[in-house]
Amino acid sequence: MTKKTVLALAGSPVKDGSTDRLLDLVLRGARMKGASVEKIYLCELEITPCNSCGKCEKTGACPINDDMKWLYKKLLKSHVIILASPIYFMGLPAQSKSMIDRCQSIWVKRFKLKKKFGKGDRKGFFVSVGNMARPHLFRGAVATVKAFFTTIGVRYAGDLLFSKIEDKENIMEHPTAMKDALEAGTKLVSD
Ligand SMILES: Cc1cc2nc3c(=O)[nH]c(=O)nc-3n(C[C@H](O)[C@H](O)[C@H](O)COP(=O)(O)O)c2cc1C
Repeated sequence: MTKKTVLALAGSPVKDGSTDRLLDLVLRGARMKGASVEKIYLCELEITPCNSCGKCEKTGACPINDDMKWLYKKLLKSHVIILASPIYFMGLPAQSKSMIDRCQSIWVKRFKLKKKFGKGDRKGFFVSVGNMARPHLFRGAVATVKAFFTTIGVRYAGDLLFSKIEDKENIMEHPTAMKDALEAGTKLVSD
């Protein structure tokens, strides 16, 4: 059996914050099942926001020369993609959103230019927290992440979403979050 590869995108600018800690547990679960895991902090990368130059409309390739050049390849080949990102202003923070917007070239290539695209059952998983207790707190972010996963050709396999989390102490004290994250990681690479 081929070893599952997991690409983990840490989308918060806060290292060792709530989403980062949850992500580490998901990854620990995946490693326990033998997966090979790579974690990337989006805040450490140079990712220029999409400027809608329109060049990808013709070629399906983005002309911007930055860290997306190599990240595209990983997004398109890892068996499991996990995005862990907090809620900022009811949506995703800039670090995550810039990376997602830059996938417009993949969308064009796949759905507009209808170029060949790798097949296979790849999975996407979303981890998020926010400090509010509002209903629909995650609605916008989940819609964005679903569009992102569809674009890169992965199935939205699930999520872990926790409200009323202001800082990492809240997530550490949550009755089930740590266990849920570990279990999600083992499950993600098991079937
Ligand atoms: C700029 C900014 C905007 C935020 N906007 C929201 C928001 O709209 N809704 C919410 O529930 N929490 C909001 N938060 C709170 C974060 O989601 C919360 O503190 C979260 O626990 C941070 O997760 P992290 O430790 O993984 O970075 C915001 C925080 C910042 C810094």
